[in-house]
Amino acid sequence: MEGAIQYPQFRKLRGGDVWYRIEGPARWTEFQRIGTRWVRHDVVAVQHPERMTLHDLRHDGERYAEVDRTEWAEAVGEELPGAAKPVEADLAGRTTFGVPARATHLIEADSDDAVRAALAWRPAGMPLLVLGGGSNMLVHADWPGLVLAVTVPGVAVVADDGRYVEVVVGAGEPWHDFVMHTVEAGWGGLENLALIPGRVGAAPMQNIGAYGVEIKDRCLWVEAVAIADGGLRRFSAAECGFGYRESVFKGAERDRWVITRVAFRLDRQAPLRTDYGAIQSELPEGPWTARDVAEAVIRIRQSKLPDPAILGNAGSFFKNPVLSAEAYARFAQEHPDAPHYPQPDGTVKLAAGWLIDRAGWKGHDRGTHGVHAQQALVLVNKGGATAGQIWQLAQDIRRDVLSQYQISLEPEVNQIGL
Ligand code: EPU
Repeated sequence: MEGAIQYPQFRKLRGGDVWYRIEGPARWTEFQRIGTRWVRHDVVAVQHPERMTLHDLRHDGERYAEVDRTEWAEAVGEELPGAAKPVEADLAGRTTFGVPARATHLIEADSDDAVRAALAWRPAGMPLLVLGGGSNMLVHADWPGLVLAVTVPGVAVVADDGRYVEVVVGAGEPWHDFVMHTVEAGWGGLENLALIPGRVGAAPMQNIGAYGVEIKDRCLWVEAVAIADGGLRRFSAAECGFGYRESVFKGAERDRWVITRVAFRLDRQAPLRTDYGAIQSELPEGPWTARDVAEAVIRIRQSKLPDPAILGNAGSFFKNPVLSAEAYARFAQEHPDAPHYPQPDGTVKLAAGWLIDRAGWKGHDRGTHGVHAQQALVLVNKGGATAGQIWQLAQDIRRDVLSQYQISLEPEVNQIGL
């Protein structure tokens, strides 16, 4: 009856002061009282012995007593989250496109348990929208269900050998603040990803990337609460199935998880990635530090990408199209000057911004909305646009690029409620 289990579950060692909280099908937390304090171990059950222990915790009633949440919380001294109370909310202010939309039920969740409480509140069948920074979505209609805004805080170093640092970050932390924290601390590897809007929890969803770096290069694991049973699962980077603006969270595991934390492995001696053309020309005289690279990236982004606080947008609206070697060869006969990026697997990525620009759309103005004048891949809400209008513009661009170049552009931004 695995399907009927709800996490967390609680156990106590019979005849001892050791308490267990089973977080999901492959992990638990153990609390052992030593003198007046509690020693806490988080165990991810990957190997056989831990899996056996977890099996025993659940099924060996002679050794482990089942306890309820209240008894467990009293013993260990943890606070129980209150019952989740949804509020009505405006979504325009919670998304960077800033188009009008409302939600009748919104709950903010700052811990795994608060996420579980929100999921427990949700009536069966009610649609769920998980919201981070709202920086990669276009909301087409009022949300007819629950919006779960994940605000889990915290940045914690869990391992440091003097060179490599493993750092665990709450899904609710603003991405750019976290990147600048790593730059200040001298932990290398994320500096090229400065100034990307959004929160940490959304970063693995589409494997955010910029200036030659993607988070798949630095991510160790992702933890998420299962929407079905509240179980906490740790996805190794390999299990995340990262690809260009892709992951399992957008693919096979779509709508099954609420990401609550992400771990990164950073390197005090990480080589700087300065090969991306625009970075070279923005850097001062070398030698450079990670801070120089972050500052160069910030200057480039500020010059090309609109600040969502001023002009509504969700970054690149379309993905850069990836062509087979043969398709690229045909394309290049007519357009040898198009920027193109050969991929390790033999395919060739084109710049959607260049195609849209050459097709004549850069700076296109429809009053309330349009195409950004500095970067044709970015659609903007100049004030008062609806999602429908922005979507219509996207369709017009798509049709035109298809007819001029026989290349089909796919949206990079998630369309919600379309
Ligand atoms: N280009 C034009 N005209 C334009 C825009 C671009 O000719 O209006 C040309 C540029 O001159 C350049 C090429 O197209 O030769 C690529 O442009 P750019 O370096 O600005 O990058 P991009 O491919 O348009 C991608 C990411 C951005 C990321 C930058 C930098 C995607 C969908 N977009 O944009 O990510 O910041 O590279 O690495 O992969 C985002 O995902 O929201 C995003 C902003």
